[in-house]
Amino acid sequence: MPEQQHVFLTRPLDEAVLNEFRPQLRPQLRIHPDTEFPPSREELLSAVRGASGLVTMVTDRIDAEVLDAAGEQLQVVANMAVGYDNIDVAAAAERGVTVTNTPGVLDESVADLTLALLLSTVRRVAEGDRFIRTGKEWIWGPQSFVGLDISAGSTLGIVGLGRIGMATARRAAAFGMHILATGRRAHSAEAKALGVEPATLEQLIAASDVVSLHAPLTAETKHLIGKDQLAAMKPGSYLLNTARGPLVDEEALADSLDSGHLGGAGLDVHEYEPAINERLRGMENVVLLPHIGSAGDATRNRMASLALKNLVAVLNGEDPLTPVEG
Ligand code: DGY
Repeated sequence: MPEQQHVFLTRPLDEAVLNEFRPQLRPQLRIHPDTEFPPSREELLSAVRGASGLVTMVTDRIDAEVLDAAGEQLQVVANMAVGYDNIDVAAAAERGVTVTNTPGVLDESVADLTLALLLSTVRRVAEGDRFIRTGKEWIWGPQSFVGLDISAGSTLGIVGLGRIGMATARRAAAFGMHILATGRRAHSAEAKALGVEPATLEQLIAASDVVSLHAPLTAETKHLIGKDQLAAMKPGSYLLNTARGPLVDEEALADSLDSGHLGGAGLDVHEYEPAINERLRGMENVVLLPHIGSAGDATRNRMASLALKNLVAVLNGEDPLTPVEG
């Protein structure tokens, strides 16, 4: 016999957002209380038992074991993220469980962060801040902390021109960068209006001063940027990743940076997140962030709200707004 049905949220969400949905969440609402850390595997397997719906995060691995632990009454897994590589969508489809994500509400926030990371990396902002904090003696110098002038005709290569890539392209165009892009929208009218040139991955890698990754993580895109791609990048060029860590082979990246071939890298996401590659951590020309692409206050509330709307829709027998195709 299934236990009393409930909805389980793997993290506390903004109270005001949550309160809007409380009346509609007829099943009992259970929330993992820790704001900082997700439920452990054991806690997750136990908390989902008997649930009709789950609100999950990128930190929660939702696979066949979790779906089976939940039980046959489980109807929906509403991921509070645009990426859903943490969910075994095929296993969910086999069990008749709807999976949803939160596209379209975080594009501007992630693009803002991409530009912040770009400037921080190529203009050595984080490195400069660290230097000042050492308290070492310093004075302005003509060759001190010189970085790449992005507005002097430098080329940005956007790998995966979807919604977030396009929002990034709009910002880069405003900075005067020349833009190359791969992906479904590279041939669109909007891309053309921004001066985006469609390219293959090989062309983009060979011609860009900064390569920025915006592709989803799938079996095909794992290590999209490995030893060969890094070797084919321009000497002194930069790699940015605000998408998913495993798109990059981090050991190969560390080798390339060690050899002096690449000029630097900016990573908001990490191959073995939350673990950080120790070699990259030790490099001055690498900027490392704790996966904060979508961490704008209004953005996070929009994500929470969309995840809850999707959850409630499925529990009410309606179509969710943003289902993931199984
Ligand atoms: C996403 O939405 O996929 C982000 O990585 C989570 O912030």
